[in-house]
Amino acid sequence: MFKTSPLRKRQLYGGIIGLAIGVLAIVFFNLKSSEEYISLGPMNAGHDDLSCVTCHADAKGNLAQQLQSNVEFAIGLREKSVDFGTQDVTVKNCLECHDRPNDRHPPHRFSEPRFKKAIKKIDATTCITCHSEHNGERVTVASLNYCMNCHRDLEVEDDPIDVPHIRLIANEQWSTCIQCHDFHGNHAYEVPVKLNDTIPMAVIRDYLNGGRDPYGDSKKHIGLSEPEWIKLKLQD
Ligand code: HEC
Ligand code: HEC
Ligand code: HEC
Ligand code: HEC
Ligand code: HEC
Repeated sequence: MFKTSPLRKRQLYGGIIGLAIGVLAIVFFNLKSSEEYISLGPMNAGHDDLSCVTCHADAKGNLAQQLQSNVEFAIGLREKSVDFGTQDVTVKNCLECHDRPNDRHPPHRFSEPRFKKAIKKIDATTCITCHSEHNGERVTVASLNYCMNCHRDLEVEDDPIDVPHIRLIANEQWSTCIQCHDFHGNHAYEVPVKLNDTIPMAVIRDYLNGGRDPYGDSKKHIGLSEPEWIKLKLQD
């Protein structure tokens, strides 16, 4: 008589997810206003809506337990929230929402021994080298000429550009690279072929700081939203 129909089950499931999102939202606002963290800078571009737990997993416990300890913190049953900083934010956290099979510089690739020397200069095995969080920016790497660490021997067959790559490299013009190429290859856009048509450095800088995207609006992949991330976690 009281058999649950599939529809009822789905409603229940939806309810649970809704509740989880609600709880996360409460926890988020609570932490945001918590004095301890006011000294932290603003979230980076695109991350305003994310709760702390999406990147800072509790040192122990699964998502449900973390949520519980966050709730206990929020309603005053617990002195400290999850231990921020006890567990480092790693490339794994970022890839949970930004797993992009088209990335031409995927972090795992640079664990190969032949990149050992380059990695000492620019650690491309992790995102945080270039995207440190809580800076209210998009990209935080100090200098954009780091291409030099891996592309010194580049030879482009039938080079289409007016000042060929081989000349740019011989002249050490390493800041020009990012003025034509986005780093991850996630933008669908026409790569310039004339040095005169490159994106001005000031415009690139503005983009890295959080401004308009000069490589265009057409992207192959965008990050998962928090509800999508929660769904993924609950499936595990
Ligand atoms: C998008 C991922 C992300 C989110 C969301 C996030 N953080 Fe962070 N947080 C980081 C990263 C990455 C670092 C390390 C920064 C670095 O090394 O440059 C960090 C560092 C910190 C630190 C310093 C810890 C240390 O060991 O230096 C604190 C405290 C912190 N975050 C608190 C918070 C709080 C509170 C929230 C929620 C309001 C939050 N974070 C949301 C990614 C995130
Ligand atoms: C819970 C999911 C989630 C996690 C975890 C996460 N992000 Fe994001 N991130 C997003 C969303 C959603 C956006 C906004 C949509 C977009 O632009 O892709 C975004 C945007 C960004 C952007 C700006 C994109 C743009 O063009 O404006 C960068 C850079 C970025 N994330 C890097 C990181 C790094 C590095 C980490 C790990 C420290 C991380 N993200 C962790 C979901 C996430
Ligand atoms: C060696 C430096 C470096 C590393 C490592 C790096 N990035 Fe980036 N990232 C950049 C630069 C430079 C840009 C701006 C150019 C562009 O848009 O590709 C950028 C742009 C982005 C963007 C916005 C444009 C887009 O592709 O949608 C996202 C999102 C992003 N990075 C995520 C990540 C994540 C996630 C990781 C780790 C898996 C990572 N990055 C590792 C330098 C880096
Ligand atoms: C840590 C090493 C490393 C760094 C730093 C690096 N690259 Fe690369 N890049 C690679 C490797 C490896 C490939 C793949 C080449 C291959 O498959 O033969 C690649 C491929 C590329 C491609 C071609 C992608 C394709 O499939 O056609 C472009 C364009 C590129 N990189 C631009 C840049 C620019 C611009 C920078 C600096 C902002 C940069 N790279 C920094 C290692 C690096
Ligand atoms: C004026 C614009 C421009 C500049 C500056 C430029 N490139 Fe390119 N690059 C291109 C074009 C166009 C191609 C060929 C089409 C493509 O692969 O997108 C190309 C191709 C490449 C490739 C792919 C080669 C292959 O065989 O598939 C790599 C790697 C690369 N460039 C790296 C660099 C590096 C490193 C720099 C800085 C020294 C640089 N580029 C500067 C426009 C430019």
